[in-house]
Amino acid sequence: MRLDILTILPKLLEGPFNDSILQRAQEKELCEIHVHDIRSFSTDKHRKVDDYSFGGSAGMVMTIQPILDCVKSLQKERNYDEVIYMTPDGEQLKQNKANHLSLKKNLIIICGHYKGIDHRLRENIITMELSIGDYVLSGGELAAAVLTDSIIRLLPGVLNDETSALTDSFQDNLLAPPVYTRPADYNGWKVPEVLRSGDFKKIQEWQENQALERTKQLRPDLLEGED
Ligand code: ADE
Repeated sequence: MRLDILTILPKLLEGPFNDSILQRAQEKELCEIHVHDIRSFSTDKHRKVDDYSFGGSAGMVMTIQPILDCVKSLQKERNYDEVIYMTPDGEQLKQNKANHLSLKKNLIIICGHYKGIDHRLRENIITMELSIGDYVLSGGELAAAVLTDSIIRLLPGVLNDETSALTDSFQDNLLAPPVYTRPADYNGWKVPEVLRSGDFKKIQEWQENQALERTKQLRPDLLEGED
């Protein structure tokens, strides 16, 4: 999988992509992440990437030219499955969307700033608009990092234990069951006996029951859409 991320703040993405799981995924050549500085595509002599909003509302708007030129130069090289725009008014990112996107080959992700990008880009080149939640960030970079992480960790070979993404919260519209590690008794705080029984069937039943109970208690909305 190849991800091309367009931003005016490329440095903001260095941290998340150059550490831990995302770094290892790139080193193992399971994915390529390319960050592009939108400013370097600006034909303006001052490398401007924004301008005043028509109609006079407050805040600057990101201009069409540098973003369109950057997207077009990428699309000349290869076909992209989606051109995604990170925006608080997009569809809210959920696990099923991350699953769906993890099966794609090439994705472009555009990070907005100020009041956002010129709406004509949204009408003409953006194929998917995603939000990571009902709150407003200073820019789309952190949202793009969240989206990227949620996708890349699902690629085969990225996680050491192949099954661990399958047992994540949300994979069956259920929260994950509680987990414990050694010591089995920490000054009287004990691990549930069943987990130490060695009875795999019983353990699985307990975990399924805990997942269901925790979901009912903490996130009943996840169960509402069930068949
Ligand atoms: N840009 C600013 N806020 C955002 C959000 N909540 N989700 C995605 N992109 C954003």
